[in-house]
Amino acid sequence: MSTNKTLSVKNINKSFGDNHVLKDISLDINDGEFVTILGPSGCGKTTLLRVIAGLEKSDGGAVYFGDRNITKDSISKRGFGIVFQSYALFPNLNVFQNVAYGMKKASKEEKQKRVRKMLDLVGLNGIEKKMPAELSGGMQQRVALARALAVKPKLLLLDEPLSALDAKVRVKLREEICRIQKELGLTTIMVTHDQEEALTMADRIVVINKGEIMQYDTPQNLYNKPKNLFVADFVGHMNFLENWMISDSGISHSKDEVITSTLAFRPEAAEVLFDSVETVDAIKGQVEYMEFRGSFYRTQVKIFDSSVNHTVELDFQPKYAIKSGLEPGKIFDFRIPTKKVHVFNENGTAIADEV
Ligand SMILES: Nc1ncnc2c1ncn2[C@@H]1O[C@H](COP(=O)(O)OP(=O)(O)O)[C@@H](O)[C@H]1O
Ligand SMILES: [Mg+2]
Repeated sequence: MSTNKTLSVKNINKSFGDNHVLKDISLDINDGEFVTILGPSGCGKTTLLRVIAGLEKSDGGAVYFGDRNITKDSISKRGFGIVFQSYALFPNLNVFQNVAYGMKKASKEEKQKRVRKMLDLVGLNGIEKKMPAELSGGMQQRVALARALAVKPKLLLLDEPLSALDAKVRVKLREEICRIQKELGLTTIMVTHDQEEALTMADRIVVINKGEIMQYDTPQNLYNKPKNLFVADFVGHMNFLENWMISDSGISHSKDEVITSTLAFRPEAAEVLFDSVETVDAIKGQVEYMEFRGSFYRTQVKIFDSSVNHTVELDFQPKYAIKSGLEPGKIFDFRIPTKKVHVFNENGTAIADEV
């Protein structure tokens, strides 16, 4: 992948009345990259995508395509492909007419060739004459994708295209969108509130909360090096410990001193300690609940210390869970290696060197 920027968003602000929805958003997207915009409902994802598409005017800032400032360009001049959550096919047009809709200047032969090619690409052969109402949700969304791709867009914008579909279809289409995106080398931005979708599909993810970018990073970095408490909590599962201290010999609850930082660790960071092993960083816990998840047990563990009232979720591989006889009620020792502990300062910002 080259590192040429396809799209640059610079200092975008947008308010609806006194609702400041986008707060100084800046980001670059490289050629051929698949970027997802991830965040809770109402955080401004759709508004940002609409500003990029030219469907919404921002209050300030600029959008660049390559070196060209396109902030004032119309939707059609931008020439981006757009797919929305609701299928948004023209109900009175058949599949062929829907897919060919944007190819105004093409000849009949060109249209036929291109529509067939696009339907091939999305795995729908020979349905040109069908009407949208005759198709399942998944098929309609494939047609919408074919329609967006038919005009050879320079950028593909997807707004929660999978969220109205049932789980199985969603996973299948997720894979297909990724395959098509790579096959065409098409720079793509997809909005989603589903972290699993974002983590599995994207080269990079923009995490947004309340109209602000929390972190723009690879899925791996978001998971392993969350820059703040919001990302730590929003992406994957994380245990948080208030008033705990970290030192070379491990983590421990602070009984007297008030600790302003927050410690955090992933469920899979925990290691079971067996009876014969005594280490200074041992933490005593009592199993409350265990859930078999195939390759591991997700285990709810109450910290076994009268001064702490806290339950954490720990993942143990079955062989360790069995060896140490883990079952509800069991009291056992575990440790969290210090290198797996994330530390956030009182403002919720990660203290980088600790991880
Ligand atoms: N056209 C609009 N007029 C007024 N408020 C809007 C409009 N569009 C979005 N909003 C508000 O902007 C905020 C962000 O909306 P949106 O971008 O749709 O969020 P998301 O896609 O992340 O769920 C919400 O508070 C929403 O109510
Ligand atoms: Mg939205």
